[in-house]
Amino acid sequence: MNNSTILVTGGAGYIGSHTCIELLNANYTVLVIDNLDNSSEESLKRVEKITGKAVSFIKGDVRDKALMDRIFSENTIAATIHFAGLKAVGESCAMPLEYYDNNVNSTLVLCQAMEKANSKNLVFSSSATVYGDPEILPLTEDMPLSATNPYGRSKLIIEEMLRDLPESDKLKNSTNPWSVALLRYFNPVGAHESGTIGEDPSDIPNNLMPFITQTAVGRRKELSIFGSDYDTVDGTGVRDYIHVVDLARGHLKAVQKLLSKDSINGVQAYNLGTGNGISVLQMVKAFAEVNRVDVPYKLVDRRPGDVAACYADATRAKEELDWEAVMSLEDMVKDSWNWQSQNPEGY
Ligand code: NAD
Ligand code: UD1
Repeated sequence: MNNSTILVTGGAGYIGSHTCIELLNANYTVLVIDNLDNSSEESLKRVEKITGKAVSFIKGDVRDKALMDRIFSENTIAATIHFAGLKAVGESCAMPLEYYDNNVNSTLVLCQAMEKANSKNLVFSSSATVYGDPEILPLTEDMPLSATNPYGRSKLIIEEMLRDLPESDKLKNSTNPWSVALLRYFNPVGAHESGTIGEDPSDIPNNLMPFITQTAVGRRKELSIFGSDYDTVDGTGVRDYIHVVDLARGHLKAVQKLLSKDSINGVQAYNLGTGNGISVLQMVKAFAEVNRVDVPYKLVDRRPGDVAACYADATRAKEELDWEAVMSLEDMVKDSWNWQSQNPEGY
């Protein structure tokens, strides 16, 4: 029986709520802090219903130093998963300071509280965006990193900040050094098989899958496919879509690694993707065929800043975390639609 407590920041959000399910099913005690800026407490109620287990919830901001110190002094936290942050690329170009404040500052305050409490196991939500405009595919973790927008730069700054922590341990001869997993997600889609939790963007979706599901359910007139003249299988952009439940299981594996005898020594980055590139047209066709639903679309100009193709080499996660994506494209489109059709207006 395992009842170590895992602190999950941003746990009411899309990936966080799915991860809470995996942690609870593995018998961890789950403590969530979320300011609910981009989510609803309802997601956690549904997590409790799905698992039959309780989630402790604190409504608060990770940048609140006093609150974070209190959380770490009142609880013995075995590991922390840090999802909390802002994630819209376009918005980050318009409001860079908010992005640096929320993403970088929250991580700074969190790590200060962790260090003070000597609780130094961290899983961080990074992104494939840290590879910038990739020259070689598939992407391995040691390929060059760069940022093309403030959101991506915030992730890169955080990765670099976290890399400084084990160095300080060495200088201090720390007997309890930092163990940090940087999880670089590719394109998360899908939802829990129950269809009761899923992605619920508060605005017009920027990402492909929520735009497809909202078009299919009638909230949007048609999908615009950005670019049909890329050097890809059918001219449309290629990405590595990963089912959110596979992604959530990757977090469970990372936590288990951090808490094992064979823990991460310092900081290690892991790509979480399937390794398969899927084009926009392939995704739209799979969605329409599997769900027998129409997705009207038109081909339009490329979206500025987009790359032709991006997919992962996830060998390191397989070798070191004993994790690999197992869910199919069919699971992704079926579960995305199951969630959206049962919850046409989201939570
Ligand atoms: P989400 O918006 O659904 O979840 C983030 C949660 O954090 C929300 O519930 C929000 O209310 C909360 N939050 C934000 N700032 C906070 C703060 N300062 N204090 C407390 N709570 C705060 O997003 P998601 O898709 O679940 O993404 C989770 C993480 O994964 C983010 O860090 C994101 O950058 C990263 N990521 C997401 C994707 C993706 O496509 N969804 C891809 C790569 C990386
Ligand atoms: C976006 C973010 C990236 C983030 C990733 C995962 C940008 C520039 N990048 O990547 O930082 O890590 O999400 O969440 O926003 N598409 C359409 N029509 C649409 C929406 C998308 O054709 O309405 C196409 C895009 O051109 C792309 C593919 O679908 O080829 C995937 O787009 P999207 O879901 O936005 O993800 P990324 O651009 O890969």
